[in-house]
Amino acid sequence: MHRAFLIFLFFIGITSVLAIGLRGCDYYLSPAANRAFMSDHQILKPSGLLGHGLGIAGAAMITAGVAIYSTRKRVRTFWNIGKLSSWLEFHIFLCLLGPVLVVYHSTFKAGGIAAISLWAMLSVAGSGIVGRFLYVLIPRNIKGGEMTAGQIDAQFDLQEKALRETEFGLEIVHQIDKSFAEMERPKNFVQTAGVFFRLRKLNRQVRHLIHSKINAHHIDHASAANLIRITSARTALIQKSILLLQVEKLFYYWHAIHLPFTAIMFITLALHIGVAVWLGYIWIF
Ligand code: HEM
Ligand code: HEM
Repeated sequence: MHRAFLIFLFFIGITSVLAIGLRGCDYYLSPAANRAFMSDHQILKPSGLLGHGLGIAGAAMITAGVAIYSTRKRVRTFWNIGKLSSWLEFHIFLCLLGPVLVVYHSTFKAGGIAAISLWAMLSVAGSGIVGRFLYVLIPRNIKGGEMTAGQIDAQFDLQEKALRETEFGLEIVHQIDKSFAEMERPKNFVQTAGVFFRLRKLNRQVRHLIHSKINAHHIDHASAANLIRITSARTALIQKSILLLQVEKLFYYWHAIHLPFTAIMFITLALHIGVAVWLGYIWIF
């Protein structure tokens, strides 16, 4: 269900971006000076029926994307509604598609106070991609919240127990743990990047080892799938805990970009909307 919903969102996003892009490509690709003489100008310019509508739709999507995620994350009453990570996916969908619609609204040119809003919006959306990458490197519990040290240890114990119950599971636990035991925890951001790539390489080697063991022992399909599922979860958790301290620090600094730029975007957006309405641009209303 979840995967189908994500594919559906992706389909909607790509279709709208392509439909608008193809509809207006001649106009958007023309030099600004020539646009006023084009037949599409009346409809696609930032104050035109479609152009203005795209600005309103985009801004509404961004506002909803932020409000919905923040409310789910911060208001206790909503903590039991779905996983936080699923709400983050929805935040990402709305806050990726919204900016694209706003860029079409701007017709790829910017001036005045709207330009500050536009650049702040693009910085937030761009930084979001980095944030999402860091977000998934932090071990999360079933509700999507950050795992405590105790929860991480409990998870390791559970995995070990589950592996003990599988064929040659214990042997695999020891091999996985041994492979990662020599990996040092990074002490700064530069080391983090190095350790990250070394871990990825090691991960591939461990996966290869497990697959060759499975093939050598001719174990049945269901048991092999179970073994792969638990071992992948274990290697992922070990890697995340090795990187955890530095990734948490980076994620903390990342918030210092994502959040202030959001504030700048919304403040200048409010001024931009105020000026637009004051000048009489009220779209279809
Ligand atoms: C984050 C959201 C938004 C951003 C970043 C944004 C940005 C821009 C930009 C860059 C322009 C072009 C300025 C120029 O021609 O140099 C523009 C024009 C315009 N925007 Fe927005 N906009 C946003 C949302 C909105 C909304 C919600 C409205 C509705 C009230 C709106 C109404 C307009 C109007 C009417 C114009 C044309 C102004 C004119 O031709 O003088 N915008 N906007
Ligand atoms: C204009 C677009 C965007 C705006 C205004 C925006 C705004 C925000 C805000 C205000 C938060 C903090 C929520 C809270 O802690 O209450 C947040 C969190 C986050 N956003 Fe965005 N965002 C945008 C786009 C994106 C994009 C495109 C991505 C990813 C591709 C993204 C990824 C994230 C992540 C990973 C978090 C952190 C979640 C957490 O710490 O719980 N954002 N965003």
